[in-house]
Amino acid sequence: MSIQNTRTALTALALACIATLGHAQQQPKLKVGLMLPFSGTYNALGVAIENGFKLRVEEQGGKLGGREIEYVKVDDESDPAKATDNVNKLIKRDNVDVIVGTVHSGVAMAMAKAAKESGTVLIVPNAGADAVTGPMCAPNIFRSSFSNWQPAYAMGEVAGKQEKKKKAITITWKYAAGDESVSGFKEGFEKAGGQVVKQLNVPFPNVEFQALLTEIAAAKPDAVYAFFAGGGAVKFVKDYAAAGLDKTIPLYGPGFLTDGTLDAQGAAAQGMLTTLHYADGLNTPRDTSFRTAYAKAFKLQPDVYAVQGYDAAQMLAIGLDAVKGDIGKKAEFSAAIERAKIDSPRGAFSVSKSHNPVQDIYLRKVDGKENKVVGVAVKGLADPARGCRM
Ligand code: PHB
Repeated sequence: MSIQNTRTALTALALACIATLGHAQQQPKLKVGLMLPFSGTYNALGVAIENGFKLRVEEQGGKLGGREIEYVKVDDESDPAKATDNVNKLIKRDNVDVIVGTVHSGVAMAMAKAAKESGTVLIVPNAGADAVTGPMCAPNIFRSSFSNWQPAYAMGEVAGKQEKKKKAITITWKYAAGDESVSGFKEGFEKAGGQVVKQLNVPFPNVEFQALLTEIAAAKPDAVYAFFAGGGAVKFVKDYAAAGLDKTIPLYGPGFLTDGTLDAQGAAAQGMLTTLHYADGLNTPRDTSFRTAYAKAFKLQPDVYAVQGYDAAQMLAIGLDAVKGDIGKKAEFSAAIERAKIDSPRGAFSVSKSHNPVQDIYLRKVDGKENKVVGVAVKGLADPARGCRM
């Protein structure tokens, strides 16, 4: 080799070393475990959450807290029996830095238990299980969505105070979310002078409603309150209308009954009143820019689930920025989220001591393909966080 060639080779080697060193100083990618339903009745909800989360990451140049993001995905099938195995795969096998999930309350409770035991940061982008920010609350567990009590309590107030209904029948899937939604509604409704005269249930994710609709028709209550979501909500609202009940007994629910479902529910849902922490027609600059970006990225209109995914990424970014990407600094990470105002498309919110959003609950009315905002049912509603000691 000539001297000239040797020199060139050495220079190339030196440059390669510098490049490698520079690279080694960069923090490794942050591993985010997305544990969501990618099949079954809640499939569309899982997809919307993933879309929303990724949209926010992309808006930040693919990084949060200066770290590039790597995703590990698990389809939890909304199956609580598989939840502990699924979450432990993420924590122990994949060594994720943070877990984002899930939709189903029963699955989320198993995740919260594993997160509490391992200390892994968990951000819940939907499941409302009251226990997650109640008895199971922990410094490393946050929720970007709602507690089952929140929209349900607000609907109870609306049905009793504004709509002046006296006797209601409730109907839901029989699991934590449905039970808690019904008891939140009952609390608000009874305070407003109403009475829940019958509580009907079907097993999750069953959609055979006919016998129970016949029972409702015979009992003739003033109102029906229902908790269903995703594919099950589509079927329930259509069956309710097909039985002719929408003409005689108003159907109320938390907004999940009509969110992300209106294309499929069509005429059956028109005019329905629901309560939720998001609505169409908010017309704020923050919401409009979110909706425009979401529609451009996914050729779809966003729904509440997309917002919750987006805000999970916003909360994670706030924590990571405070520790410059070092999620091992748990106390500083949590403190940053605790004192933050999260600039959500739903309207800015902060988290309560138990790490659940304190937020306005909107009253919405179905108009065409929109859950149009008609007002604020309860302003700045905080979950009571019964049983949380932190
Ligand atoms: C829940 O299981 O907590 C749950 C599922 C779907 C929803 C809302 C709550 O839309």
